Amino acid sequence: MTQVSSIEENADESNHNDITKNPQEKHLADYKPSDYLIESLDLVFDLFDENTIVKATTQINRVTGDNTPLFLFGDNLVLRSILVNDSAFTDYTLVEGGIELFNLPTSFVLSIETELNPLANKAFEGLYKSGEAFCTQCEAEGFRRITYYLDRPDILAKFSTTISADKTLYPSLLSNGNRVDQGDLADGRHFVKWIDPFPKPAYLFALVAGQFDCLADSFVTKSGRTVALELFVDKGNLDKTAHAMLSLKNSMTWDEERFNLEYDLDIYMIVAVDFFNMGAMENKGLNVFNSKFVLANSQSATDQDYLGIEAVIGHEYFHNWTGNRITCRDWFQLSLKEGLTVFRDQEFSSDMGSRTVNRIANVKIMRNHQFAEDAGPMSHPIRPASVMEMNNFYTVTVYDKGSEVIRMLHTLLGEQKFQQGMALYVERHDGQAVTCDDFVAAMTDASGIDLTLFKRWYSQSGTPNVNITDHFDTNTNSYQITFKQKNLPTADQKHKQPLHIPVDIELLDSEGNAVDLGHGKTSKVLSLTQKEQTFVFDNLKQKPVPCLFRGFSAPVKYQYAYSDEQLLHLISYASDEFSRWDAGQILFNKYLVKNVQLQQAGNAFSLPTLFIEAFKAVLTSDQLDPALIADMFEFISENGAMELFEAVDIEAIHAARLFILQQLAEQLQSEFVAVYHQHQLTADYQPKTEDIAQRKLANCALSYIAKSDSKLANELVLKQISRANNMTDHLGALLAANTGKLACRDAVMADFDDKWFENGLVMDKWFALQASLSSETILANIETLFNHRSFDYSNPNRLRALVGTFVNANSYYFHAIDGSGYVFLTDQLIKLNSQNPQVAARLITPLIQFKRLDAKRVALIKTQLTRLLAIDNLSLDLFEKVTKALAH
Ligand code: TRP
Ligand code: ZN
Repeated sequence: MTQVSSIEENADESNHNDITKNPQEKHLADYKPSDYLIESLDLVFDLFDENTIVKATTQINRVTGDNTPLFLFGDNLVLRSILVNDSAFTDYTLVEGGIELFNLPTSFVLSIETELNPLANKAFEGLYKSGEAFCTQCEAEGFRRITYYLDRPDILAKFSTTISADKTLYPSLLSNGNRVDQGDLADGRHFVKWIDPFPKPAYLFALVAGQFDCLADSFVTKSGRTVALELFVDKGNLDKTAHAMLSLKNSMTWDEERFNLEYDLDIYMIVAVDFFNMGAMENKGLNVFNSKFVLANSQSATDQDYLGIEAVIGHEYFHNWTGNRITCRDWFQLSLKEGLTVFRDQEFSSDMGSRTVNRIANVKIMRNHQFAEDAGPMSHPIRPASVMEMNNFYTVTVYDKGSEVIRMLHTLLGEQKFQQGMALYVERHDGQAVTCDDFVAAMTDASGIDLTLFKRWYSQSGTPNVNITDHFDTNTNSYQITFKQKNLPTADQKHKQPLHIPVDIELLDSEGNAVDLGHGKTSKVLSLTQKEQTFVFDNLKQKPVPCLFRGFSAPVKYQYAYSDEQLLHLISYASDEFSRWDAGQILFNKYLVKNVQLQQAGNAFSLPTLFIEAFKAVLTSDQLDPALIADMFEFISENGAMELFEAVDIEAIHAARLFILQQLAEQLQSEFVAVYHQHQLTADYQPKTEDIAQRKLANCALSYIAKSDSKLANELVLKQISRANNMTDHLGALLAANTGKLACRDAVMADFDDKWFENGLVMDKWFALQASLSSETILANIETLFNHRSFDYSNPNRLRALVGTFVNANSYYFHAIDGSGYVFLTDQLIKLNSQNPQVAARLITPLIQFKRLDAKRVALIKTQLTRLLAIDNLSLDLFEKVTKALAH
């Protein structure tokens, strides 16, 4: 293979920030090391619901700047006293966002006493109460809600924590590190003292106090150290902890085997809480988890829940090295730990289960969510250049695109050199707070591969568009394939440069055999580094069918004018299973776009026979993994489909998508029924890969049957519920009843409610089904459900299940042309704004990605965003998103 043509790029190195500079915006370019460093921090907590006292004693040294004042961040604090070297100190001013201290010695002990009200804290940031327990969430900037501090990730200090609380109500008092002391106090109180030997930034601090059941176990590391493992859950939940513990032990083994990374402390604790804004938090030695990612047994959790638990337990455990031992210099570097740790958890899940199924799930997140974010008002590179509210940058871009960037490095270097790069990164930076540049430098130095161009992925936002054309010369038997990358301007950046895009490619001949591309290899990773590039393959007998971006080798959109026959060829013969799935997706999207155009031109929908034949071959295959077959029948979401159009036609996309699904259901009805019966399991429930695949395909078939034969589906649903020995099958039946609006739907939903109303986590599945019902009365239904006995407006999981599912997964009704969906969401955001701004700012997403909608909807949305912007005390979280949306 040789490279014959290239068009030189006139790179414009300047990348202006197009948004009018906002005073509240912080910039990566403004990073400055701190004038003061903190050696150690000694914390003492006296826990009370409404007036907890925190004494923070800090050893501080000034390293630069003569007599420069010390600014400490603080938020929502009541200051009780300040001592410097044990004497009362008054030379300070309370300022916006913190406190300034003047005329300090070079080296001193600062003692600050603050008072907190954990019970009133419904933002779940800082110290708060989750049910009966006290717990903390400090990432990103929550520690400043506990005490005045240099709350920035490059300040690493040794922490000790003493906690005192009522002994009966709070028998477990936990913090980071090792327990060094404990004892009884007066008034029925007791205390425990913890010391964490590893210096850490404040965002990794954690404290938990409560009354729990504890599952204890242990793990022997490869160097022979025994680590105590303790999993704390609310009383009565011990029967739902086995899978989380198993996942933890598997994570520890996997990180030793694949990354040669061993755990460091003598104890690893996980606490599950019901009130939590995110999935989980990697606090050193004391992870705090949303109970959704811990609690599972066959009755209460689906296969997807089991897989989610494994992934999140792994993710937080892997942070111990990628995040904790080596942390971020500043928050702009968040992807340093998150992109890398997501990559590691994805690899863990892939090694534990099916690699193809995992890859498909990862790519769906990119296509259904990340592409839209990158095209919307919040577009940002994986390493943002400017931020108003840091909590707004825990995004699918930083996490999932960040992981794709690490995966591209892995593709370019190969596993061996990548691991050498990891080893060098750890060797160089253990105990430090570093940057994405440091990570890439380690990869460069270990591999000898020049990554200068590749680094643009860190600073450039937007999804590249790659257009591919090819030509076969019958005289010379040479095949030329030309790639053109287009990087369109985004909300945050006008000027774009070509990126280094790895294209994993395979060429199939007419028999479906992969062509030898040299040295006996049938696949190759091409490096597309210019705007336009042509690659030539010689000695081919005929024009091949190119299999492009195998395994989604780069986070791009790509177009090649595949004929239906060529897509069928790929579905049948691509050696990469992911690419077979992808060919099915391309085929679906092609006819989705065609049918939208037909509808817009006033014509009837239509599908060629080959379309149905292609999917029939998949459905009846006895070669393909049942899980892959099921995935082949899950198509781009309505939200994701918006990315396929320049101008989005909500009604046409909805109708065309339903038409194709209905055609598949009707024309393959007997095949779906056969598949349903072939994939029934009779043995006891086990969440193992093979069984998960069987259940997935059977439930997928049931959902299609519900579209074509409601009488049969009704029977099958009732039978499946009565026989189900697990939640996956119970919920699969409910899903079919819900989407097919079967006769039994209301009754089976009511039965489920009666059975599970006391279990909020299980009821989230029910709330999500209710919220995704395709019905004219959906908004009235949701208003009624706010008063349901299992609903709690202050619980983020409940809100996401009911409101989040409606606005994201019921997008046809969310985008109702009367604007009712927009008014509804805005009402909720106004209600949430002061209580829990983080959760509000996450729910707003579908309301700000409106650019390609029709003028009428855009106007309706802007009216709502303007209404939101006008409220008193709009949080910075919402302010940032609303202003960026209105300016886009
Ligand atoms: N670092 C956490 C993770 O990825 C994310 C997280 C948990 C978080 N809680 C948060 C981020 C609160 C911001 C705010 O595992
Ligand atoms: Zn993380």
